[in-house]
Amino acid sequence: MKVPFGTIHITKKSKEIINKILDSERVSSGKYVAEFEQKFAKLAGAKEAVALSSGTDADALALAVLYDYGAKRNDEIIIPALSFVATGTAVLQAGFIPAFVDIERDTLNINPEKIEKKITKKTKAIMPVHLMGKPAEMDKIMEIAKKYDLHVIEDAAEAHGAEYKGKKIGTIGDMGAYSLYIAHIITTIEGGIVITDKKEMAEILRSLRFHGRACKCKQCVINTKDSYCKLRFKYNTDIRFVFERIGFSCKMNEIEAAVGLGSLEHYEEILKKRRFNFFYLKENFKKFAPYLMTIKVEEYEKIGPHAFPIILGEKTKFKRDELVKYLEDNEVDTRNLFTSIPTQTPAFGFMGYKSGDFPEAEYIGNNGLHIGIHQDLNKEHLDYVIDLIEKFIINYT
Ligand SMILES: Cc1ncc(COP(=O)(O)O)c(C=O)c1O
Repeated sequence: MKVPFGTIHITKKSKEIINKILDSERVSSGKYVAEFEQKFAKLAGAKEAVALSSGTDADALALAVLYDYGAKRNDEIIIPALSFVATGTAVLQAGFIPAFVDIERDTLNINPEKIEKKITKKTKAIMPVHLMGKPAEMDKIMEIAKKYDLHVIEDAAEAHGAEYKGKKIGTIGDMGAYSLYIAHIITTIEGGIVITDKKEMAEILRSLRFHGRACKCKQCVINTKDSYCKLRFKYNTDIRFVFERIGFSCKMNEIEAAVGLGSLEHYEEILKKRRFNFFYLKENFKKFAPYLMTIKVEEYEKIGPHAFPIILGEKTKFKRDELVKYLEDNEVDTRNLFTSIPTQTPAFGFMGYKSGDFPEAEYIGNNGLHIGIHQDLNKEHLDYVIDLIEKFIINYT
């Protein structure tokens, strides 16, 4: 039985909109992107949403907003040592230096107790990651941010639908950055989006996504309505050629937005199915301790399940890659549970960290994997995986 990691359906509604877009010949960012932004913002519980080409851009642009608030190039951003590599690269792409903090093994998220030690005069923000859709400990993070006057940008790439103490993830810090890549709950195929309640930050994001252009309007009347823009010559030259900040080129296009609009319509049922799958596996994994574990879930949080993380216990006699090969040979798709960005990612070698600096992140880098729990997987798929793993473990005990 095949158990794929991710799935995608382009809905009937999306296909109808895509055909209209193709006939209209307005395919670059326009009214459907604006509609998607408005609907995503509502769903995510924020006033504004700015759609982009990827989750990595969402992280990088949210960080680049900080230049308008006094940040300087080479200032520092606190991030967890374990995440998908994009969290680290986005910091560098935005012109900042990542300051890494180790994670906790049973949450996979930044260890709040270790943050303060990494704060320097150059620190401008904390960027917690809600890995696998499990919320980071936001109360503690917000308290530290307040104490040191830091911004908080949530990397919510994997956390669609997650909640922390009654608050929606992505709305607790200044901005929340999501990925809309295929494996995620809401998808535009490729894509990302930043949410915020702060109007000024949304305006800066809109400028940044278009090369830093002086345009900041929520809906561009030229692009969405084909009408006259009253601000067009406010600088005595065409505003579209006035660039106020060092920007990026990462707009979402209309076709991607159409896929997203269809995806939004099935959001509740997708989330429900993924939550069922996550807890079904979690319950059935109890019997695999102390060989295999997963993350803990607190009463005060709601997971927005991205995938199912599996962590090998310290005394387990098999290696992660043996289990991975066995699962793959039996048609179960797997992914490693990322690497310690500073110490296990060759691209970050130039920063000079050494093995052992982030023991928990490194442990997961060597002993973690994750498998799909998406909406197209049913109980039969999950039972198949559980059976497979049971047989594997029996072999080693
Ligand atoms: C935690 C995290 N941050 C950022 C990203 C980057 O998103 P994208 O692949 O859309 O660029 C991902 C990718 O899934 C991610 O898992």
